[in-house]
Amino acid sequence: MSKGPGVQKMFDAIAGSYDLMNRVMTLGQDQRWRRFVVQKVLNPGAGWALDLATGTGDIAALTRKTYPHCRVLGADFSQNMLKEAKQRFAAMDIDWQACDANFLPYGDNSFESVSFGYLLRNVDDALAVLKEVHRVLKPGGRVVCLDTTPPRKNLWYPLVRFYFRFGIPFLGRLIAKDEAAYAYLTGSTMDFHSAEALAALFVEAGFEQVGYRRFMLGTIGIHWGHK
Ligand SMILES: C[S@@+](CC[C@H](N)C(=O)[O-])C[C@H]1O[C@@H](n2cnc3c(N)ncnc32)[C@H](O)[C@@H]1O
Repeated sequence: MSKGPGVQKMFDAIAGSYDLMNRVMTLGQDQRWRRFVVQKVLNPGAGWALDLATGTGDIAALTRKTYPHCRVLGADFSQNMLKEAKQRFAAMDIDWQACDANFLPYGDNSFESVSFGYLLRNVDDALAVLKEVHRVLKPGGRVVCLDTTPPRKNLWYPLVRFYFRFGIPFLGRLIAKDEAAYAYLTGSTMDFHSAEALAALFVEAGFEQVGYRRFMLGTIGIHWGHK
């Protein structure tokens, strides 16, 4: 069965508490990672930057602020997350659209850049989505992906595993009143590609100059590449 409908329902349910939960769960680090994403997007000039799985819109808004001449489109399949984004950034010139990352309603070679935060872990076939992103990017365009990565077995592993296994679901119950949604975050992170394997998928999808950097004791990965 496809993950899509369950994921959509889950984000519709937690949209109202999503931002607060993010700040607490990441000890206030989440915006720093998004700024790094936007830095890696590079300047789209007067072209279009797509922020896919935009959620409550932080990456789209940071892109808009950082590159004031570009046009920004934030897209997501959760109507409630998009509603939050529109309210939060009503004063900013950003377009918002409901769409599924598996079937992008855009022509080939449309965007200077495509970013996405915490999308690939939530789709059935990350490679298919990366190929779809590659299709809509202009030649020379940049892709930048932020996601959690399974923790590596190092000195920190027991602590990190404890936090994922118990800390995050506990915070989910306390703040979002939805322990299951945050237990899903833990499960989907543990089951996700390692940073190395994800980089290989970017190459398989056709991207060049692929690189990545880890953050937060190796539990967050930011990957990038060029078409
Ligand atoms: C954890 S949130 C991340 C939001 C935002 N990118 C951020 O940095 O906070 C993941 C988002 O991905 C969206 N999403 C998941 N699968 C999707 C899909 N197949 N198509 C479009 N959006 C999707 C969800 O609706 C949700 O808003």
